[in-house]
Amino acid sequence: MTLTQHVRNGWYLGAWSDEIGRTLKQRWITDIPVCFYRLPDQTVTAVEDRCPHRKYPLSLGHLDDDGTLQCDYHGYRFDGQGVCVGVAEQADKPKAALRRFPLVERDGAIWIWPGDPELADESLLPDTSWLTDPNWTHVHGVVPLKARHMLLLENLLDLTHETFLHPTSIGNAAVAATPIDVTVDGDRVGFSRRMIGIEAPPFYEKSCGLTSPVDRWQDGDFYPPGIFVLNIRVAATGTEEPDGFHMKVLYGMTPGRGNETHDFYALGRDYLIDDEELTRFQHEQQLAVMQEDVDALEAQEIMYATDPGGTAESSIKSDLAALRGRRAVAKMLTREQQAGGTRPRASA
Ligand code: FES
Ligand SMILES: [Fe+2]
Repeated sequence: MTLTQHVRNGWYLGAWSDEIGRTLKQRWITDIPVCFYRLPDQTVTAVEDRCPHRKYPLSLGHLDDDGTLQCDYHGYRFDGQGVCVGVAEQADKPKAALRRFPLVERDGAIWIWPGDPELADESLLPDTSWLTDPNWTHVHGVVPLKARHMLLLENLLDLTHETFLHPTSIGNAAVAATPIDVTVDGDRVGFSRRMIGIEAPPFYEKSCGLTSPVDRWQDGDFYPPGIFVLNIRVAATGTEEPDGFHMKVLYGMTPGRGNETHDFYALGRDYLIDDEELTRFQHEQQLAVMQEDVDALEAQEIMYATDPGGTAESSIKSDLAALRGRRAVAKMLTREQQAGGTRPRASA
C-alpha cells in the first residue's frame, strides 16, 4: 500500500458551511492551498491561496465589505470572480486572476472539486438530505489526522477493526465474526454486514436503550475518492426494517498537505431528536471513537512511511471492501494521469 498521490478529479468535503463566513479561511486540499470565503450575497468561494504576484497567502489578506479580496503583501485586489481589479502602486491593472474551484454548498456542507473544472459533476455527490431533514438531528465537525487518506479509507471500509480498536463503545466479537457482502458499481464500493441476535455494544445499548440480544445492520457506501456514508440500524432482535433505530455517519476523507488528512464527520439519528443529553453523549462517543482511529492510523502511517520498499502485506476476507476501495482510487488516479493530470503535485 504505497498510494500517497491524490485524485483531484473528484469531490471532497472542503468545509462545513458554518466554518465559512466573512473571514478568510485557509485549508490545504490535495496539496493545494485553498482560501475559502463568502461574498456579500453569502455565496461561498474557494480560490487558490497563492497570490499571483509573489505567492503570499491571500488568506493572510483581507476581505472588503463589497467582496473584494486584497493581498496584504503588496496590495493586489481581486473581485468576486477572482480577477485582479487593481493594485495601489500603479494605475493600470496587472493581468492576473485567481484559480477558482468548483463548489457545491448543500445541506450544510461545502464540496470542492480540486481537479479539472470541466469534469465536476454534481450527480457524483451522495444524498445528504438527512443533514437538514427535520426528522433527523446530527452533530458534525472535523478532526485532524496525520496519516495518508488511504489509511482512513481502509479503516472505514473494514469495520472489522471495531472489535479490536473500539471494544468499550461500538465493537464486540460479533463484528469480526460476521462476514460482509461487497458490491462494486463502477467506481463505487459498498458493503453490508448483518449481525442478528447479538450482544448490544455499549454505545448502542445506551444510545437506544436496548438490551441484548439485538440486530445490528451496517451498510457502507464509498463514493471515491473521499466520501463514505455508513447506514446503521439497531433494533430489538427480529424487528423488521424500517423499524428500529436509524443512524447515519458521513465521513469526508479529504487529503490535506503531504500525508495529512482532514477527517470530517457527521453523525445523525432519526429518533429522540430533541434529546440534547443523548446528542451530547453521542457526540462525545463519536469523538472518542475517532480518536482511537486517529491514534491507530498515525501509528500505522509511521510504519508505511518508513517502509518505502513496500514489505508484502497479508490480507484476509474482511479486507475485500478496502481492497476494492484501494483499486477504485488507483484507477481514478491512473485515468487522471493518462489524461495529462490536473496539475503537477506540489512538493510536500
Ligand atoms: S504577493 Fe500578493 S501582492 Fe505581492
Ligand atoms: Fe474505527
